[in-house]
Amino acid sequence: MVNTPSNPTGRVLEKHQSKQIAEVAENSDTLLVSDEVYHRLTFGKTHYSPPAFTDNSVIIGSVSKNHAMTGWRVGWVIADEDAVTEFAKASRALTASPPKISQQAAIEALEDYSHVEEMRSEYEKRRDLVVERMNRLDWDFVLPEGAIYAFPEVGRDSWDFCLEMVEKGVAMVPGEPFGPESNQNVRICFGAATVKELEKGFDILEEEL
Ligand SMILES: Cc1ncc(COP(=O)(O)O)c(C=O)c1O
Repeated sequence: MVNTPSNPTGRVLEKHQSKQIAEVAENSDTLLVSDEVYHRLTFGKTHYSPPAFTDNSVIIGSVSKNHAMTGWRVGWVIADEDAVTEFAKASRALTASPPKISQQAAIEALEDYSHVEEMRSEYEKRRDLVVERMNRLDWDFVLPEGAIYAFPEVGRDSWDFCLEMVEKGVAMVPGEPFGPESNQNVRICFGAATVKELEKGFDILEEEL
């Protein structure tokens, strides 16, 4: 299973990396599941879909991120017909189907992408600000090249840090649930917070640290 652009780091795979992952899956006869729900949200980087390099693969998509329609609950898989038939069985048992109004809204969203570019460029401004402010705090981080997150290392237990900061008015997600190696990271989401709100959040962090 691969995810690019990535939640939580914002990392976007290079072409050669996508290709290498596909080759490993192909050579070991492994189904490659590629979660690409942020594929239109990149900042100066090209999105390379690993399934472009192997047939034994499935792409997961959604209107949640590219179209900021999280609550509408519409997503899809792109796969061969046999696989789709099997996924449909599971989907029928788990969710039956998304509401008709959501499906109509999703069709509308997918027919015209101009709103996506508008949001993407706004996210890029927020990303630039978050990067500048994280540098000012001297935090280590992977440059977010896509998605709506930064995942800096804060040098403290992520739960303690987040619980302390939420009391001061800054909400972040502890890194620990993303894997034990991330226990000193926190996820900052710039999908909903405006530039002004992000500035305020970082002002508080600067004051507290
Ligand atoms: C990488 C990734 N895939 C899938 C999802 C789920 O999206 P949906 O709202 O379509 O269930 C998320 C949501 O945060 C995500 O970050």
